[in-house]
Amino acid sequence: EKGNYRHFMQKEIFEQPTVVAQTLSSYLRQSDNSVALPQFDFDISSIRRVTIVACGTSYYAGMVAKYWFEQFARVPVDIDVASEFRYREPVLEDNGLSLFISQSGETADTLAALRHCKEQGQTIAAVVNVPTSSMAREADLLLPTHAGPEIGVASTKAFTCQLAVLAALAAHMAVTKGFMNRQEEQEVVEHLLEAPACLNAALDHDDDIASMAHLIAPARDVLYLGRGPDFPMALEGALKLKEISYIHAEGYASGEMKHGPIALIDDEVPVIVLAPSGPLFEKTVSNMEEVRARGGQIVLISDAEGLEEAGEGCMATIEMPKVHPLIAPLVYAVPVQLLAYHVACVKGTDVDQPRNLAKSVTVE
Ligand code: F6R
Repeated sequence: EKGNYRHFMQKEIFEQPTVVAQTLSSYLRQSDNSVALPQFDFDISSIRRVTIVACGTSYYAGMVAKYWFEQFARVPVDIDVASEFRYREPVLEDNGLSLFISQSGETADTLAALRHCKEQGQTIAAVVNVPTSSMAREADLLLPTHAGPEIGVASTKAFTCQLAVLAALAAHMAVTKGFMNRQEEQEVVEHLLEAPACLNAALDHDDDIASMAHLIAPARDVLYLGRGPDFPMALEGALKLKEISYIHAEGYASGEMKHGPIALIDDEVPVIVLAPSGPLFEKTVSNMEEVRARGGQIVLISDAEGLEEAGEGCMATIEMPKVHPLIAPLVYAVPVQLLAYHVACVKGTDVDQPRNLAKSVTVE
């Protein structure tokens, strides 16, 4: 089943160009470069607030989507982890869309939150990978990811497929609400359709990442930094590393580092910086300087332009293709997945079945 791969996780990381393309093909119409969602019987333009609820990696997909809903569809977004959402008596407005994201469609806390929102009269949308799951059945609007079965406990391909669906949903909402004109819609679709090739280009750096994994494997703590939609990717990178290599890792918003975590920095704490070149890049470079001034060892993940400007003096660099900001979170998922994977291989941990973790968490 694993073919030429050593682990399911590795196989699933490499499947991403294919499954993201597959997922996009059911949300984008290539004949006229438009977004096409499944049929449903409510008026999406009347949605006044989106409430996103999920756990773990699926929650990070939701965090990325918040940037897109706000930027494109100008709709306010609340987001919470399911275990907190349920107990904080959230205020749900009329005409609200509650959006649940789950690979398995069975995560107990997320499912309970879905049922709560349904009882409150919210419209329920679910981005789910298992089409026969409880969440898939109970949603008003089912938005399937077509990642295929995910066997590795650490989620990889389901995550990038979730991002693909969420980008299409945000664009669709933007079009219906009149915040995105036909030409802008076409551009968004064109950029999304570039994702599979860019994922392939990111995967081409697998060997580079494998050969630097020994630099991270001895660390006790690792920090991941990112800004904007790459901040959730820093959280995702840290989660992947914790889960499968058992190294303590934290993701931080780059600008938040000086408000506390900078106290941790010394030459034994690698700092992984996710920073595509672009308007936020200069800010991140100054955060890198703060790290360097304290002896911190940086791994910079950026495109050729970013590495040219700020790569010097880093412990290691990982080159990504130059991509449109919309698809950067999908593409930058690859190096953080591969880094966690190769570090775990160096450490000899059980990549597909990490200790204490289950693929589907059906207890609260
Ligand atoms: C991380 C991971 C978990 C899941 C979380 C939610 O690699 O696998 O954090 O993302 O348990 O699971 P689903 O998406 O099935 O609701």
